[in-house]
Amino acid sequence: MTVFLDKGRRLSTSRLWKLQQDFYERQGLAAFASGVVPSQITTSPRIAAAYARVVRGFLLDCGGHGGTPRRPLGKIHPGEPLYLFELGAGSGRLAHLFLNQLASLERTSPLAACPRLVYVMTDASESNVRGWAANPLLRAHVDAGRLVLAVHDASGQDLVRPYPSGKPLSARSVRNPIVLVANYLFDSLPQDVFRVRNGVLEEGRVTLSADIPERRSPRDPAVAGQVNIRFDYQRARTALYEKPAWNELLRSYTQQLEGSTFLMPIGALRCLERFASFARRRVLVLAADKGRFDLEALRGAQEPAIARHGGAFSFMVNFHALADHAARLGGFAMHSRQGSERLGVAALFLGGPAQTLPETRLAFERELSALDPLDCHTLVTFLAAQEDRSWLDLILATLELSGWDPACLVRIGPALRRNVHGLKPAQQRAVLAALERIRSNDFPLSDAEDLASEMALVLQEMGVRPASKPDDVLDRPASSGAGIPGLTLPPS
Ligand SMILES: C[S@@+](CC[C@H](N)C(=O)[O-])C[C@H]1O[C@@H](n2cnc3c(N)ncnc32)[C@H](O)[C@@H]1O
Repeated sequence: MTVFLDKGRRLSTSRLWKLQQDFYERQGLAAFASGVVPSQITTSPRIAAAYARVVRGFLLDCGGHGGTPRRPLGKIHPGEPLYLFELGAGSGRLAHLFLNQLASLERTSPLAACPRLVYVMTDASESNVRGWAANPLLRAHVDAGRLVLAVHDASGQDLVRPYPSGKPLSARSVRNPIVLVANYLFDSLPQDVFRVRNGVLEEGRVTLSADIPERRSPRDPAVAGQVNIRFDYQRARTALYEKPAWNELLRSYTQQLEGSTFLMPIGALRCLERFASFARRRVLVLAADKGRFDLEALRGAQEPAIARHGGAFSFMVNFHALADHAARLGGFAMHSRQGSERLGVAALFLGGPAQTLPETRLAFERELSALDPLDCHTLVTFLAAQEDRSWLDLILATLELSGWDPACLVRIGPALRRNVHGLKPAQQRAVLAALERIRSNDFPLSDAEDLASEMALVLQEMGVRPASKPDDVLDRPASSGAGIPGLTLPPS
């Protein structure tokens, strides 16, 4: 039987978003552990290290040199925290790796006269937040006072309330500029769809239906994964949104995107507006997502592609609209070199022109423009498919480029194993050092011992250890700097 869940509604007000939130609530962290919802690339050690350097640049721009902060940033309170809000934090892996990276930068080069960073990890799914609270790796950061957990709907209007208790964070209590991190989140927040035909702007109205067995209720959670989505178009009203600037952008798209269909990231725009009010627009946003970054990429696009992840959905992000929003507020935007529909990273600053943040920009250019996270992904995909035995150096270089990412080792482990027979002692040491570094980035999401097994197999191929007891190889949780148990390194 076909049931209709929505008929002729604007996409941003559709039941789709509620169905999605119910899915995340039900699944909790299992959504990421199972891989049903992709999260490896946006929570990788590579992205964590890059974000840590960019945020360090931001702290410097906020007055960490010990001098007077640049005027456009306004007054900075060195004794008050500088909050980083991660929205839709999912598995929690990014927060853990970011905080480790920032601490390591701080040890090498402490920042004087600069506000202390407090990381606020948020998600609309309370089951995710409960899962984080039970995770010893995250609890260590909470106990050290650098991490706060919160259940928070990024498309809502609520204050950010620490979990399980604590004083809510709001425009009143936040004194310094803030950082927002939103990886694979804007693609999951409400959007609207439009197309331009013969110079007329038309709005897509959504019909949601599901073919379900007779006795199943439309409220059954399994229905979310089966919904059919159809768009019908009708002439759009002129002043659709509450902000004149967003209506102005629609007018400009009407003139420039004849024959194209595009998305308006209204959930993301409202979210930015609200957090901007926390910090008088002094907001740095870092967002990694699949998206369209310039007008050329929007031109000629047709029906919005909807990716399905179990009962969750994601749409392409119109980063061009977010950059336009930043520019209209007097801010600026940057993006990673490829700015690709596969994945791009954007930095938006809402509170001043590019000259306001020299250190932030420098770090972004070096970490995310010059070294695009997609480069590593491309190499891993290539190497995972290789049968040849002569790739050891390239494999190790790729693992380094990944920021020593356990997930990358699991993917290219079989290729590595084909390359570790008859190694010279120096090569063997290089492989063992690589395994050691990868192990220190482990953030287990499930009981599946993929990393431990892969490491054991690599060691077995090298003739160093048997593969039968992976737990001996990877004694969790990883203790800093501890060697792989039982290993004797070959002499230098
Ligand atoms: C695709 S996952 C991304 C998770 C993580 N940021 C990553 O990169 O792997 C989307 C996450 O956003 C959360 N989410 C969905 N809608 C949300 C909303 N309106 N506000 C806050 N979180 C939301 C989901 O619970 C889920 O954890």
